[in-house]
Amino acid sequence: MLSEKMTVALNGQINKEMYSAYLYMDMSAHCTYEGLDGFANWFMVQYQEEMSHAMKIYDYINEQGGKIILEAIEKPPGDFGTPLEMFEATLKHEQFITKSIHDLVTLANEEKDYATQIFLQWFVTEQIEEEANDNEMIAKLKLVGNDGNGLFMIDNELATRTFTPPASEE
Ligand SMILES: [Fe+2]
Ligand SMILES: [Fe+2]
Repeated sequence: MLSEKMTVALNGQINKEMYSAYLYMDMSAHCTYEGLDGFANWFMVQYQEEMSHAMKIYDYINEQGGKIILEAIEKPPGDFGTPLEMFEATLKHEQFITKSIHDLVTLANEEKDYATQIFLQWFVTEQIEEEANDNEMIAKLKLVGNDGNGLFMIDNELATRTFTPPASEE
């Protein structure tokens, strides 16, 4: 059983994950337009991940008999700059998501909502991975700088990323 406050907060997180998906979809489109097909693939896989995050929370609220409340999804900025700038923006966004997940954990602790505390652990761990991936990409992109060959190699590497749906704990 979810409290009213927890239900609203979890629904807010659905919206944030949907916005993340929308943002990465837009970044993917931008990369395709720029001819960076590997980067486009990476961001499209990230889009799929974010959709699965939203659905994970959606399923949890339903499982707990809570009400789903869907709000409007914000428009992404649309102008993304260089690949380095894109990953810097991605890291910044994921840090915001991490903070949001941590706020949910704080609320679950305050409410002694043990089920939601356990549910959120997966997201706490996932955010460590998200930020690590972005930091790794930023380091690589800084290393190659304006070198076209380096960028080409990274683009080829990112072309191989595939989406693995998160394992269900049931
Ligand atoms: Fe996410
Ligand atoms: Fe991830």
